Amino acid sequence: MPCETPRILVVFGTRPEIIKLAPVVAALRQKPGIETVVCSTGQQRELAAQTLAVFDLTADFDLQLMRERQDLHDIVAGALCGTRDIIAQVRPSFVLVQGDTGSAVGAGLAAYYSRIPLGHVEAGLRTNDMFNPFPEEANRRLLDEVSSLLFAPTPRARDVLLREGVAAERVHLTGNTVVDALMMARQGWEQRGAPATAAGLLASCPGKKLLLTCHRRENFGDGLAAIFDGVADIARRYPDLTVLFPVHPNPTVRDAAQAHLGGVANVRLLGQLPYPDFLYLLSHADLVISDSGGVQEEAPSFGTPLMVVRRQTERMEGVEGGFATIARLEAEDISRHALELLAQGRRPPTVTTPYGDGHAAQRIADLLTQAVSG
Ligand code: UD1
Ligand code: UDP
Repeated sequence: MPCETPRILVVFGTRPEIIKLAPVVAALRQKPGIETVVCSTGQQRELAAQTLAVFDLTADFDLQLMRERQDLHDIVAGALCGTRDIIAQVRPSFVLVQGDTGSAVGAGLAAYYSRIPLGHVEAGLRTNDMFNPFPEEANRRLLDEVSSLLFAPTPRARDVLLREGVAAERVHLTGNTVVDALMMARQGWEQRGAPATAAGLLASCPGKKLLLTCHRRENFGDGLAAIFDGVADIARRYPDLTVLFPVHPNPTVRDAAQAHLGGVANVRLLGQLPYPDFLYLLSHADLVISDSGGVQEEAPSFGTPLMVVRRQTERMEGVEGGFATIARLEAEDISRHALELLAQGRRPPTVTTPYGDGHAAQRIADLLTQAVSG
């Protein structure tokens, strides 16, 4: 039975979930008469710790699930059973998750099985290909199915949900909270100066800069090899260019990055950067090549040309708006395409992107407050 003071339990496990939920937690904590409890599944350890510190956020519960080379089954089972117990203890009026990770789907199912209403931030993203991205396409479909409130980031995502038959009163167009987080970070460097690590890196590479991120499971093997070989080819053809690559801590990605790019002179394999440093580099890069979801949503705000290295993207708004292009996962295509984009140059930064206006978290907090107070 719900407690007297309405409580909202916010659950996350990975870096992108923290980035996109931190503004929502901040907005909820401004609401009088509502308690917000934060649970980390610990699906990611160093990445989560680094990102929580940026937002000055502390988890009230940490399930500490991360294991080296963890398996999808273990993460989902750990998040499901771990959040079941937290739900029993906290007795929330609502559970809130974001996106499509193992943590989100485990916690979402735990809320559903406990008959606690669930809110899904970033609802309605689809590629309609269950193996690209894998397993995220299935995870977000499952979450949308069991959620009471679905927060769609874009008109396209809202329309997908309505077409799938979700009742209109459950679907709300809010914008993507990633834009709120980005604006918080940008305000930080406008007020206090450039983040130190990023500023040092930029000062040490005077020519053009190519930023690379890459970690998706469906790209492991041939996909990663094609992306890295393509980038190595660009770097060799363009000696004035520096490739900055914050390498994901996943050992599969690290090993492949070292094997394909370790010996290339103008490629710098870096540790993962704190969020403001990464964004600052993104805002100064001449080109970004990425398979990340979040980076696709961030690049348009800075006018940084983006090449998406995935077979499918659920974020077609960026492609259709002229902010991004999709390359075939072949080294030659990636290299040729990158050289064209570098020659075209950066676009002017814009406050109007297809992904949001920076007020998504407030809208979500208002809707949740209404739901638990009603
Ligand atoms: C997960 C999400 C994916 C998201 C990505 C963000 C699922 C199914 N996928 O990817 O949607 O884009 O996170 O990063 O949940 N590791 C560390 N330290 C860390 C984090 C990871 O060492 O702080 C290593 C561990 O060996 C871990 C591996 O990286 O086993 C993979 O991490 P994991 O969170 O499982 O990544 P993905 O499932 O690939
Ligand atoms: N990011 C970061 N430091 C880095 C690389 C990326 O803070 O060194 C941020 C980036 O700004 C984006 C998010 O991490 O907001 C993307 O996370 P990731 O690529 O792990 O997951 P995805 O978005 O693909 O789910």
